[in-house]
Amino acid sequence: MNPDSPMQLLGGLTAREFLRDYWQKKPLLIRQALPNFESPISPDELAGLALEEEIESRLVIEHGQQPWELRRGPFAEDEFNKLPERDWTLLVQAVDQFIPEVAELLENFRFLPSWRIDDVMISFAAPGGGVGPHYDNYDVFLLQAHGQRRWKIGQMCDADSPMLEHADLRILADFTQTDEWVLEPGDMLYLPPRLAHYGIAEDDCMTYSVGFRAPSAAEVLTHFTDFLSQFLTNEERYSDADIVPCSDPHQIQRDSLDRLKSLLNEHMNDERLLLTWFGQFMTEPRYPELIAGPELAEEDLLASLQDGAVLVRNPSSRLAWSEVDDDLLLFASGQSRLLPGNLRELLKLICSAESLHEGNLGQWLADDEGRNLLLQLVTQGSLEFADE
Ligand code: SIN
Ligand code: CO
Repeated sequence: MNPDSPMQLLGGLTAREFLRDYWQKKPLLIRQALPNFESPISPDELAGLALEEEIESRLVIEHGQQPWELRRGPFAEDEFNKLPERDWTLLVQAVDQFIPEVAELLENFRFLPSWRIDDVMISFAAPGGGVGPHYDNYDVFLLQAHGQRRWKIGQMCDADSPMLEHADLRILADFTQTDEWVLEPGDMLYLPPRLAHYGIAEDDCMTYSVGFRAPSAAEVLTHFTDFLSQFLTNEERYSDADIVPCSDPHQIQRDSLDRLKSLLNEHMNDERLLLTWFGQFMTEPRYPELIAGPELAEEDLLASLQDGAVLVRNPSSRLAWSEVDDDLLLFASGQSRLLPGNLRELLKLICSAESLHEGNLGQWLADDEGRNLLLQLVTQGSLEFADE
């Protein structure tokens, strides 16, 4: 993908221009980002997904048992029949993991790191339906997929922005509208994190939200230090050889703080561990239970591939790679693996190819480490046989 060629998806901007001027900064309305877009999934099929045990879904009913009633799925089929005529929304999370045609949409967003993308949430709203004025802590691309939705945008918010009292939903108490548009199928609205927005269905309406992952500073610190602590011994401690006699034994002096800081820095600055943790964290699957592979011997994998079998990525898996010194790190669904530098092209192929087969794996099937890597990914469940 050439970052300097104008993209219809971005309203004629190049990826470089969009990232420079809009990404994480300001909203962008793109008319016909995906011209003549037709939703690969119907409202009925979406409702069908919300019946499934393993799929996260929610219903927001504006005038329900209380204002903005939230119900969590899975739902029973007759629950949908009892809904009011208007003013409700059904939201289904991570539809890309269950409907390959929805996952394919993400190919349009390859100008962003794939590990930053979280999922595609799809909402269906009856006329008047919406989830109230709110802000999200993540970037989002809101693609109109069916019917029309009126989007209003407002002020930038933060943790101090007043909220309605509500046990389950974060709805803004104040909304200062700055703009509004009605989106038609194929239109898309990009919103940066923390921008207040409010979408209201004009008619039966489906909206796809391409959402992103960004760990909070608190998550980074707690999870990374948890990860680090596995590698630390009980013997390594705060130490103060060579202290000088203190003038007041009750005072914590500057030099003690400096010793503490150097203890922390020594570990915090370990880039290899930081990268390992980050790659694992960012590739953690949303549904780990959907990542499970068969037990398989290497010769059986090889024989199957030579027999024409095709491997594809498990739609629930997340893959990324990186390099440290002369080595490579492959991150697969929350796990990491250190690999020799000569496997670079194989890693890129595994992360990006639509499918893997004898044709594109070619020489890698004759490479011990390459074969072993493929086997590991199949037994872990990140790769699976296409016909399974
Ligand atoms: C929706 O699709 O109704 C809600 C999406 C959002 O506002 O984040
Ligand atoms: Co939102």
